[in-house]
Amino acid sequence: MLSAKELLDIGAKMLQNVANPRREAFILLREWMRKDDSFLVAHDETQVQDVDGFLEWIKRRAEHTPLEYITKKVSFYSREFEIEEGVLVPRPETEILVDKTVELVREFNAKNVAEIGVGSGVVSIILALLLPNIRIKGSDINEKAVALSRRNAKKFGVQDRAEFYFSNYLDGFDKPDIIVSNPPYVSTKENLEKHVLNEPHSALFGGTCGDEILKSIVLLSLKFGGVPLVCEMGYDQKNCMELFFQENGIKNYSFYQDLSGLDRGFIIKGQE
Ligand SMILES: C[S@@+](CC[C@H](N)C(=O)[O-])C[C@H]1O[C@@H](n2cnc3c(N)ncnc32)[C@H](O)[C@@H]1O
Repeated sequence: MLSAKELLDIGAKMLQNVANPRREAFILLREWMRKDDSFLVAHDETQVQDVDGFLEWIKRRAEHTPLEYITKKVSFYSREFEIEEGVLVPRPETEILVDKTVELVREFNAKNVAEIGVGSGVVSIILALLLPNIRIKGSDINEKAVALSRRNAKKFGVQDRAEFYFSNYLDGFDKPDIIVSNPPYVSTKENLEKHVLNEPHSALFGGTCGDEILKSIVLLSLKFGGVPLVCEMGYDQKNCMELFFQENGIKNYSFYQDLSGLDRGFIIKGQE
């Protein structure tokens, strides 16, 4: 057995290839010991059980496994969700997509929301928690994601209003009042970091240009008769999406930015 302090030192040394070695070693050890931050800070002399198991976690992280796949936990909108390998780890900037959707739901007094590409279900589940009067149906082409979303919905007690289906786009869905999506939008030509490439490629890459799925979703919203739509997109996709809107006669659109001022998504408030 080794003490928590000794393991933190060893872990931080083994994680020299990550951005914040000591912080990540701390998080992994805290989760391994099933304690909270303050316990670990105050009691770093504690002897740790199964040192080999902890070092195996550190090794996986050093080999670029995302931290959240190791701990099986991810924080989104200040809530803790289950996550697992094979499903995209939710990103903090997607919380803005939730806020924009809440505004759109209120403006249109929407009751039925559809999400395309639910991943772990975080967007739909937070929407269901924030907006008790809506029903939300989500799709994904990844069966693992559908199963995980259902588990997360149960964890938060919203499984009756947030339902998830294995479906391509919105195949088999009725016309919703609003569509929300954070689809794959990275170009297959882009060089991503190793830890990102350990996430499912079907959740990351949107095609050769990257905007192909975004454009299909816009066309789908038109096919439904101009259903209001809110989508996350890449910071460099404003020009190509704006051109696409103009080519398709869409006028009632706007773009939103993230906290760093980068273009991050768009809203289409239906056909005028
Ligand atoms: C960028 S992830 C977003 C996941 C989650 N909404 C989030 O924000 O964390 C995109 C998701 O879309 C799913 N997806 C990709 N193409 C799809 C399609 N044609 N229909 C439904 N879902 C799709 C992927 O499997 C992946 O789970």
